[in-house]
Amino acid sequence: MSENKKEIVLSGIRATGNLHLGNYYGALRKFVAVQDDYDCNFFIADLHALTTNPDPAQLHANVKNIIAEYLAAGLDPEKVTLFVQSDVPEVSEMYLLLNMHVGIGELMRTVSFKDKARKALGLSAEAAEDDAAFEHQLVGADNGKRVNAGLLTYPTLMAVDILIQKATKVPVGKDQLQHLELTRRFARRFNSFYGVDIFPEPYDFDFGGAPVKVPGLDGSGKMGKSEGNCIYLVDDPKVLRKKVMRAVTDEGPKEPNSPMSEPIANLFTLLELTSTPDVVAHFREAYADCSIRYGDLKKQLAEDILAVTTPIRERVNDIMADEAYIARILRDGSERARERAAHTLEEVRQAMGIRRF
Ligand code: TRP
Repeated sequence: MSENKKEIVLSGIRATGNLHLGNYYGALRKFVAVQDDYDCNFFIADLHALTTNPDPAQLHANVKNIIAEYLAAGLDPEKVTLFVQSDVPEVSEMYLLLNMHVGIGELMRTVSFKDKARKALGLSAEAAEDDAAFEHQLVGADNGKRVNAGLLTYPTLMAVDILIQKATKVPVGKDQLQHLELTRRFARRFNSFYGVDIFPEPYDFDFGGAPVKVPGLDGSGKMGKSEGNCIYLVDDPKVLRKKVMRAVTDEGPKEPNSPMSEPIANLFTLLELTSTPDVVAHFREAYADCSIRYGDLKKQLAEDILAVTTPIRERVNDIMADEAYIARILRDGSERARERAAHTLEEVRQAMGIRRF
């Protein structure tokens, strides 16, 4: 198959902090595994990060961190197109154009918008369910509680990221599926309104394997930036060991073959991701016959996680020290991304009657 016949995979990550084990097993490691088989495009969504008004210096630092972490985890810039969203100005122009075909109502009904707007307004979950009250608050809010228009149009921007590259396979988390559905709707709407066939419809891409759920260390739920239960790829060994040793457990099995509580099952899930099968079997047997000591399990787990993260952390440090290398990769990446984006944008402008004399 020739280079440009490969299916286009595209995914973005918001520039909000370092990558954790959940990002690694849930996405990054899979990106690395498929980089030969697809036309892969990965980018840092710095414009999306602006919707929460981050500190400018922090935003810039985050972009650099994530690029270094992507490279350190094994993405090969010769094989994948790696870029920063704002380095492709065509995205911003098409965002303006596409917004002309997006309803405020459909944006306001998006779960992610309701969630974030509710938090900005300081409303309880129940209050936000009362649509009339929610809308009243939304329209009346200003100053500190203002909900910015960028947050409302977040799905338009995400749709443009995808459509401008004509990507069809988009690996995203569950929380992004609604945005993907909107993207398909916007694509169909645009094509049919102008009688064109510019946009293919994108679908979620799970790489064919079973989904990997990486739990946090706090006993329940998955690892997430906002949960404060993360192991970061760049955590130094002392910090990492301490986090693991402090992970929530229970009082231990009282009878042979007791069912496992969620905190313990979560530790086993992490062990399964990072350890060898015989280590996992050893601790499972120890749990079953009640001889397990959670301290031993945690010590082993911390070392096995470190075996995964240490080489990555060391490469991150090397890459971070080489600004010129990062700049070169991003220049190459954005050049490739812009080529396709410019082509699509031109088609869109033509379709809409925005033509040069
Ligand atoms: N909204 C995505 C998230 O928060 C990030 C993102 C932005 C994205 N643009 C995208 C993901 C395009 C996939 C494709 O996770």
